[in-house]
Amino acid sequence: MYEASPLIPRNRAAHPVPYDPGYKTSVTRSPNLPLLSLDSTPSEETGPRFGHNMIGALDNNLILNWTKGEAPAVGERILVHGRVLDENGRAVPNTLIEAWQANAGGRYRHVKDSYFAPLDPNFGGCGRTLSDDEGYYQFLTIKPGAYPWPNRGNEWRPAHIHISVFGHAFGQRLISQIYFEGDPLIDRCPIAATVKDRGQLDQLVAPLDMAMAKPMDFLAYKFDIVLRGRRQTFFENRPEGM
Ligand SMILES: [Fe+2]
Repeated sequence: MYEASPLIPRNRAAHPVPYDPGYKTSVTRSPNLPLLSLDSTPSEETGPRFGHNMIGALDNNLILNWTKGEAPAVGERILVHGRVLDENGRAVPNTLIEAWQANAGGRYRHVKDSYFAPLDPNFGGCGRTLSDDEGYYQFLTIKPGAYPWPNRGNEWRPAHIHISVFGHAFGQRLISQIYFEGDPLIDRCPIAATVKDRGQLDQLVAPLDMAMAKPMDFLAYKFDIVLRGRRQTFFENRPEGM
């Protein structure tokens, strides 16, 4: 049974401001009234969790899960792996991690994605897994392509995988993005630039991990998800209850 460590208060001053004109959407998306802090209710803290008991064998294999193992997705094959850790470096087991991403051409399988890069018939772009007793998780996938997006000019998102981590209840969810070492678009991305602290942004960049790469099969990138404390992963949504 996992027992939470003593709480180290979150340093909210280290988080990016919601209103950042360089990221155009944030202008209308950010609140224009002071935030109210509401206590969570029992239903939010003890309510149902989704997905923890329904993990399929291919759910963390985005190369094969869309076709149920029939045919692999096109693209550079990669393993993304790491551990879910608390602020004291202790493993957080049994944590539902969801991932979604564009295909190798930079196109999402989504009705509102109109980028003309083609869909891959063998790639859905979603996966999920549970951290094990040591907090370890892994996804086998293809490296997502960069894609252009309407902002203020000719702007492209660096290759990235969106991730979500659930806590003990549905009301506890944190969302972030994984970038990849060496991508020159990271320093040009207005969304990445909302993370003003270089050290925090660097923690969103997964380094190449040749120790876990499989010869003649896939490269590997390592990404630990740290829930709180000085080594905390930056989460883009308001932290609810964690
Ligand atoms: Fe994206």
